[in-house]
Amino acid sequence: MGSSNSLIVTLFLILVSNIWAATSQSIQEKFYTCISVNSKLPIPFSKAFFAPGNASYSSILESSAMNLRYLTPSVPKPQMIFTPLTENHVQAAVQCTKQVGIQLRFRSGGHDYEGLSYASQTEQPFLLVDLSKLRSVDVDIQDNSAWVQAGATIGELYYKISQKSKIHGFPAGLCPSLGVGGHITGGAYGSMMRKYGIGADNVVDARIVDASGKILDRKSMGEDLFWAIRGGGGASFGIILAWKVQLLPVPETVTVFTVAKTLEQGATKILYRWQQVVDKLDEDLFIRAIITKENGAQKGKQTVQNSYQGLFLGRADRLLGIMTECFPELGLTQKDSTEMSWIQSVMYIGGYPPNTPPEVLLQGKALFKNYFKAKSDFIKEPIPETGLEGLWKSFLEEESPLMLWTPYGGMMSNISESEIPFPHRKGVIFMIQYLTNWNDAKPESTTKHMDWVRKLYNYMAPYASMSPRESYVNYRDLDLGSNKNGTSLEEASLWGTSYFKDNFNRLVNIKTKVDPDNFFRHEQSIPTL
Ligand SMILES: Cc1cc2nc3c(=O)[nH]c(=O)nc-3n(C[C@H](O)[C@H](O)[C@H](O)COP(=O)(O)OP(=O)(O)OC[C@H]3O[C@@H](n4cnc5c(N)ncnc54)[C@H](O)[C@@H]3O)c2cc1C
Ligand SMILES: *[C@@H]1O[C@H](CO)[C@@H](O)[C@H](O)[C@H]1NC(C)=O
Ligand SMILES: *[C@@H]1O[C@H](CO)[C@@H](O)[C@H](O)[C@H]1NC(C)=O
Ligand SMILES: *[C@@H]1O[C@H](CO)[C@@H](O)[C@H](O)[C@H]1NC(C)=O
Repeated sequence: MGSSNSLIVTLFLILVSNIWAATSQSIQEKFYTCISVNSKLPIPFSKAFFAPGNASYSSILESSAMNLRYLTPSVPKPQMIFTPLTENHVQAAVQCTKQVGIQLRFRSGGHDYEGLSYASQTEQPFLLVDLSKLRSVDVDIQDNSAWVQAGATIGELYYKISQKSKIHGFPAGLCPSLGVGGHITGGAYGSMMRKYGIGADNVVDARIVDASGKILDRKSMGEDLFWAIRGGGGASFGIILAWKVQLLPVPETVTVFTVAKTLEQGATKILYRWQQVVDKLDEDLFIRAIITKENGAQKGKQTVQNSYQGLFLGRADRLLGIMTECFPELGLTQKDSTEMSWIQSVMYIGGYPPNTPPEVLLQGKALFKNYFKAKSDFIKEPIPETGLEGLWKSFLEEESPLMLWTPYGGMMSNISESEIPFPHRKGVIFMIQYLTNWNDAKPESTTKHMDWVRKLYNYMAPYASMSPRESYVNYRDLDLGSNKNGTSLEEASLWGTSYFKDNFNRLVNIKTKVDPDNFFRHEQSIPTL
């Protein structure tokens, strides 16, 4: 078997190299030939390479791409999609993109806000390496840890943990379809952040392919690079193959709730109060505010709704005690509160209908997709009621506006700003994500909605963190600036300090050391000196 297989492969390679010699090869052919020679395992063409025009090409390209803005016909598409089946294939992909002289983009879960993992506005041609076939999850309860490959979703990790133990969890994103590759390297906050910090705070080892195509782990990459990949943002330092994460205790029973208040029900006063208490609450309690526009009780009249969605790492009676003492204005009752297992709470917060079996997490699919634009802010002083009223006015002017207000405090204040590159710590009361989404590719729709969110962002300037106005790197925002040919370090530091504050300088130094030729680059990659 083995020898006849390798004979076929050898014959095939001879054939391919003859074609190479005989004709001037396309980029696809050159890349395929190089991969076949460089990877220790022969790769069946039919399983891992997709060129434009191939029936599977579009479905793979679109499979995990979350922002439809970056799939429209005018956006340049990859010359080829490669889906590695082994770690070794990823090494070969680095070596071969260099050899062929093509740009490289790589994708884990495809949730990048500016499509940077599957579209390149600045450099063509480019190859897309899609890591979705590298998605094993290996949970070791005795060791309190798990190895998870980059192409797995965070929901798959949560599910696999819950299959092994009812009292272990991991503190990362709220949306189960996020890819662990891009998500954790940009930070990864979620409903247990006030107790345990973010995902990147709880990584203990990693495997990565560097710019020379070598596989490194924590020991061989050294503490500088290991620091940089825990929060320094995607695709600047190498391709993460897998993370080793630290599992953390969760109670067997947790409690969730959602309480909604419209403007007519006193939303403004309650949200003002929320800002005063939310970062000081017991660290077992996480209450975020989801702010939307809804039809009001009065026919034809629209209103703004604030939904308070909570996760409490404990039972309902203790939760109600805390709420009565610290935040009675919300009026939380026993009836609003539901006790469940931690994995059920993941499903609840992820937006699945009640009683959906958690096995759905294994499908790794997003619940929705649309055209969207988002921005973020960090708030350090409560926004006064007059400020909130201006926000509502802006909200009522837009079709599908959304804000997520995520509370900080607790463990987030206990970790120093320079512990990892993610710098948004002590002093932050909450983070805001502003988002608008729409359903068509028309340029005038795009302009209209993008203008709206930019105007809202300007309106919020007086209430947001200043010098720098901080932003979350996992909410990538190209309005903050981008690398162009010849961009100076000063220009890059505008968005760089917004995402990383003083850690930006250390990231630039590490980047210069580990990738001096700037092989891993994109519109907002960390520049070299
Ligand atoms: C619906 C939705 C919900 C979200 N919810 C949350 C949330 O609850 N908490 C939170 O913190 N964030 C959240 N985010 C933001 C999310 O963390 C980022 O978009 C993150 O970058 C997604 O990672 P990904 O692998 O899915 O995306 P990708 O698009 O695959 O990658 C994002 C970036 O990382 C790079 N990258 C991808 N794989 C690797 C790798 N293996 N090694 C190195 N770099 C890589 C890509 O090239 C790209 O630059 C949400 C986003 C969306 C769209
Ligand atoms: C599309 O690509 C796959 C995988 O490489 C291959 O098996 C298939 O034959 C291709 N189909 C067409 C129509 O080119
Ligand atoms: C944060 O530090 C304070 C003061 O040392 C401590 O009381 C609190 O328990 C810590 N919080 C967490 C989540 O570790
Ligand atoms: C960037 O600029 C350099 C010199 O200014 C030039 O040689 C190079 O081709 C440019 N690259 C791109 C992608 O435009």
